Amino acid sequence: MFLLLRKERETIWNCFAFHQFPVKKLRMQAVFDYLKANQDRFLDELCQYVRFPSVSAQPQHRADMIACAEWVVARCWDAGLTAELRATEGNPIVLARTPRPSNPGKKRPHFLIYGHYDVQPPEPFELWKSPPFEPRIEGRSLFGRGASDNKGQNLAHLKAIEAYLKTGTELPCDLTLLIEGEEEVGSSSLAGFLQKHRDELRCDAVVVSDTGMPAPDCPALTYALRGIAAFEVTLRGPARDLHSGIFGGTVDNPAMALCQLLAKMRDRNGRVAIPGFYDDVRPLSAFERKQLARLPVSEKQYRQMLGVPRLFGEKGYTPFEQRSARPTFEINGLTSGYQGEGSKTIVPAWARAKITTRLVPDQKPAKIIKLVTRHLKKLCPPTVRIEIEAGHGADPYLVSPTSPQAQAALRALKTAFGREPILMREGGSIPIVNDFKRILGVDTLLLGLALPDDNAHSPNEKFSLDCFEKGQLMAAALWKELATSHEK
Ligand code: BES
Ligand code: ZN
Repeated sequence: MFLLLRKERETIWNCFAFHQFPVKKLRMQAVFDYLKANQDRFLDELCQYVRFPSVSAQPQHRADMIACAEWVVARCWDAGLTAELRATEGNPIVLARTPRPSNPGKKRPHFLIYGHYDVQPPEPFELWKSPPFEPRIEGRSLFGRGASDNKGQNLAHLKAIEAYLKTGTELPCDLTLLIEGEEEVGSSSLAGFLQKHRDELRCDAVVVSDTGMPAPDCPALTYALRGIAAFEVTLRGPARDLHSGIFGGTVDNPAMALCQLLAKMRDRNGRVAIPGFYDDVRPLSAFERKQLARLPVSEKQYRQMLGVPRLFGEKGYTPFEQRSARPTFEINGLTSGYQGEGSKTIVPAWARAKITTRLVPDQKPAKIIKLVTRHLKKLCPPTVRIEIEAGHGADPYLVSPTSPQAQAALRALKTAFGREPILMREGGSIPIVNDFKRILGVDTLLLGLALPDDNAHSPNEKFSLDCFEKGQLMAAALWKELATSHEK
């Protein structure tokens, strides 16, 4: 298997030889050679990283979170950075810096690289082909929870920096790596941390590889993300679970009432049926619609990849528009009554749904929560009591894809992948990117390396080893390009 891996790897690196830097070829070549020579060790390190069950949503993993963060700190030191753990009210943040030249001459640009070491819960375990925290290599993929979201992607950045530092190649800029442990639960400690350490973190741009690319040969710069507003709805009926034969038919069934209530939140055309919900939605421009139509995936491939008998979405929009530029109302989980083996004939005392709405520019989570709460309360029948608890939220994000920094990022993508990158919007959320703008005053460049079939948040998550390697190349090429864009 390793022989095959090596051979395939040669192909990547040989292709890459056509796309290197003519001017500073020699110096950059040392960086690329270092990356090439160390792939086996990097893969081994990625396996170690994935082995930590760093599930931020589950309090029993608190010690694993810390162990994982400490592991990242140690790898940063190994790579030649200075690094430490910074405590927060939640999980610690890894902060690492490249050595700053003692006598830099002119002011050097400073970039912040952001990633997260926390992962989504792995459940349901029985759907994994191999245990989620026992990394497994199959073909050119590494399987394990967090492999692509986001451990593989942030490790690619660390390895690119390591290649500069270990080969004595001068970095044309200062770099700070910030890897947090609460992204998957809304990044609640990080905004305060940014405020508190504003001066130390002041930078020219943030770089994040935590989004996707449409296909292995199609690199992408993401210029928009959806926002999110999370909440839980509970309907309470009888004071305790009741015998459904003795009492059923005389009291409302909270599970049934919840299904009926939630069903009213979306109409048959896939539109959210909450008054005012679309008021602030910015329409897609003709240019954007044209860009999205270029994505190299057919509707049929898309449907087959997801395993649905038919696609469903808001009428009047393509699936790619629906999943990146249109808002949604999703039930993430439903709980009520008896879920164990066999049957239990009860009218449950309560029913609960975990819900998130995905938001697009210029919707605001606080306003959406208000609208949703008002509507749910209005439609809730008097036979049950309703409780609504707001959860985390994040604004949607939109940045110019034509800025000099974005152009520099596009060049780095092209260098690494040997293909013209595309511009795209993504449907997921990275809550902190708006805080980078608000608190540090800078844009975020989203240079994602995950593939659509990487199973992020699903069983059998994986990361493509080709994306891992090309991601390292991209990250290495990026600093030259970005620093140059600052000189202009
Ligand atoms: N890596 C994702 C975000 C992402 C994925 C953006 C794909 C674009 C494309 C990130 O780890 C994530 O899952 N974020 C959460 C945030 C939420 C919990 C606040 C999300 O989008 O569900
Ligand atoms: Zn995620």
